[in-house]
Amino acid sequence: MQHLNPLSKDIPRARLEIERMNPYSAPLEGRRNLLRLDFNENTIGPSPKVIEAIRNITSKEIAIYPEYRGLKEAFAASLNSSLHSNSLTFNHIGIFNGVDAAIHSIFYAYGDRGKTFLTTKPTFGYYNPCANMQGMKITEIPYEGRSFRFPLQQISLALQNLNPKILIICNPNNPTGTNLDAKRIIQLAHESPQTLIVIDELYEAFLGDSILPIVNFDNTPNLVVLRSLSKTSGLAGLRIGFAIGNPEVIDRITRVTGPYDINSFAVTAAFAAIDDQVYIDKYVAEVLKARLWVKKEMSKEKIEHHLDSGNYFLLWPKQSPTAIEDHLKKSGILVRNMKNKYSIDGSLRVSIGTTDQMKLFFKMYKNAVKSLH
Ligand SMILES: Cc1ncc(COP(=O)(O)O)c(C=O)c1O
Repeated sequence: MQHLNPLSKDIPRARLEIERMNPYSAPLEGRRNLLRLDFNENTIGPSPKVIEAIRNITSKEIAIYPEYRGLKEAFAASLNSSLHSNSLTFNHIGIFNGVDAAIHSIFYAYGDRGKTFLTTKPTFGYYNPCANMQGMKITEIPYEGRSFRFPLQQISLALQNLNPKILIICNPNNPTGTNLDAKRIIQLAHESPQTLIVIDELYEAFLGDSILPIVNFDNTPNLVVLRSLSKTSGLAGLRIGFAIGNPEVIDRITRVTGPYDINSFAVTAAFAAIDDQVYIDKYVAEVLKARLWVKKEMSKEKIEHHLDSGNYFLLWPKQSPTAIEDHLKKSGILVRNMKNKYSIDGSLRVSIGTTDQMKLFFKMYKNAVKSLH
């Protein structure tokens, strides 16, 4: 349905797709000084080496345009080291102003007007606005049942029947934690060489199943993998994300960005973060420990919940989720209300931080429930 802002009568009209689209909206304001369990960010901040590196940036470094090849090489080397391989080079890596910017560029480069964008639902909310900007048709396949199984057969059928231009699989999925086996993804990619299949691996470190160990981008050029330093490394505020894929595809995706879209602070911080893998591993291990505690606590307290892969879980309060959310906010804790989200309306998504943070969350959650009785 055409939706145009009536107040905009006398101002220049944007493209029809832009006038009609629902922009991505997230409650981003006023989050300082609260326990942030609402955006799945790292909850303790980056490695001290990142802070030191930023403090050491010289005025000359600020005055000069940033350069990127060294960071691409460093990221490729760190992936190769975790994969025990040397298959990735700097040409396989695209650097973006956060994975959000990578997603935007992928749609800009590959999303023809009128062609299909295929994805799942519920999933990360920024894919659809990007498809809408391009005037694409959107087909969303629901996760299956109360355990939110991946709809493999339906996706496979849709790939054959709709010949989509782009498929995005968030793996593990935000917010259901659904994790699709990497071998199945490779199979889908080989069956549908016309479709660009984007695997958003933002939460892969938290019990996901990365395709990087088994993908060969030479014979699977239609696969692109997304990784970010926002969730594990604590650089959400600096905005740095990566696309990994066949060099020719990465070249197309980066053709649509500006030449200096990622600033020197982000580049410097990313070098230091990648270099301190021990810090990242320790944070991930801490979150995985906290997950176990959360799981036990929810079973003990008989709280209706869903916890799969990822550093987040869903819980369904018996009371109004909005009232619980408001109460938690007053106690200094932010969570994300899944209101109006397909099949999970009525739930709250809670990010997993350290065990101490989760203990505080549950204490405040129980207080909220009691006060609403
Ligand atoms: C699945 C998913 N993809 C991408 C992003 C964006 O990440 P970045 O901070 O790198 O832009 C998010 C952020 O919440 C996300 O959950």
